[in-house]
Amino acid sequence: MRSSLTVNGTDHTIEADPSTPLLYILRDDLELNGAKYGCGLGQCGACTVLVDGKAVFSCLTPISVLVNRRITTIEGLGTLSNPNPVQKAFQTEQAAQCGYCIAGMIMRAQALLDRNLAPSDEEIRLHMQPNLCRCGTHTRILRAVRRASDEMVAGTAPAGTK
Ligand code: FES
Ligand code: FES
Repeated sequence: MRSSLTVNGTDHTIEADPSTPLLYILRDDLELNGAKYGCGLGQCGACTVLVDGKAVFSCLTPISVLVNRRITTIEGLGTLSNPNPVQKAFQTEQAAQCGYCIAGMIMRAQALLDRNLAPSDEEIRLHMQPNLCRCGTHTRILRAVRRASDEMVAGTAPAGTK
């Protein structure tokens, strides 16, 4: 069946079963490989993307529910040479070890900061809870989210970003 998806501001027509998880379409059809397959069960968050600004597990989200919704992946935030403030903060805090969880972590953090630019440390911790890091860099990840928030509030986030 044919479906239309809007990903990072671009419309795509996809030929796939409506029950196909968004993650498979992103990676296999659209070559957006930032979101990762970790568990496929909604238990790790490696596949996290934004749908209408909310963090969702793309491994559990069938494309049938995504018509006329706005999908954002890590590729829609910034680039290596022009990272957005959240990506930049993760780089500065060296939050990645193997990096497998990081796209999902950044997308979940982005969802929080888009609706609350100045969350408390406790709010950050609670919000980030669904996403797991097998390398155990949670402390650096939390520091990165804190930094992104603080820099955006202070207006010192790097230029040329979202
Ligand atoms: Fe989606 Fe683990 S791969 S939550
Ligand atoms: Fe390796 Fe998080 S950095 S899983």
